[in-house]
Amino acid sequence: MSAEIAIVLGSGLGSLADALSVEREVSFAEAGLPSSKVAGHAGRFLLGKCFGQEMWIMQGRVHLYEGHPAHDVAAGVRWLAGQGVKRLILTNAAGSLRAGFSPGEWMMLSDHINLTGTSPLEGGANFIDMSQVYSAPWRARMRDCAKKLMMPLHEGVYAGLRGPQYETPAEIRMLQVMGADAVGMSTVLEALQARALGMEVMGFSCLTNWGAGLSAAGLNHSEVLHTGQSAAAQMMRLLQVSVADE
Ligand code: HPA
Repeated sequence: MSAEIAIVLGSGLGSLADALSVEREVSFAEAGLPSSKVAGHAGRFLLGKCFGQEMWIMQGRVHLYEGHPAHDVAAGVRWLAGQGVKRLILTNAAGSLRAGFSPGEWMMLSDHINLTGTSPLEGGANFIDMSQVYSAPWRARMRDCAKKLMMPLHEGVYAGLRGPQYETPAEIRMLQVMGADAVGMSTVLEALQARALGMEVMGFSCLTNWGAGLSAAGLNHSEVLHTGQSAAAQMMRLLQVSVADE
């Protein structure tokens, strides 16, 4: 049993694994990964059939803000590559920076800005081309699938920060000026690692809230989890249609 495709599930999106008929389960500890202690991040790899296609699901991930170095944050991607995975879908929860990209909706990553100040490739592969981190042909297929479903699917630039705190309103304004459409605390390091390993990469942000200062409401993690849980069903439908199309 093996699979060429894997999905990494972000905060509140763990229920996407419910559609998988699980054949094998490997805990982060068994795979030699540090365990995440953040609520909403289970910490295991599941292999199984989802909508008729064999795939790996990585439920939970390791974050810089838990004190793990960049190399460890990307360890799951290297482990999946070791299992033969060639195509990787990264999902995350993110704050929206752009009017019209509303909480509860999804944004496909067209590119990212790595503001973590680090890279999983430090000390390893140098000068890897990052001119197209997120596969343009794969995005085009996803765009078509979303259209069929009449599902709003935005496309934009994800800014990856270290966290663990949410941003200040001034930082949100800075990110907007930089050209970011969404902000979060994951994904960029995994995407860099995956490209360095030659994988085809796709990224989806579940927009769980407005960036700080863009709405009257403050931010909290339980709201992020709650919005992620209700938006997960939409992503499930998109994946189902896209798998059927391949
Ligand atoms: N900022 C950073 N990370 C996030 C946010 C946010 O607003 N929402 C979900 N993850």
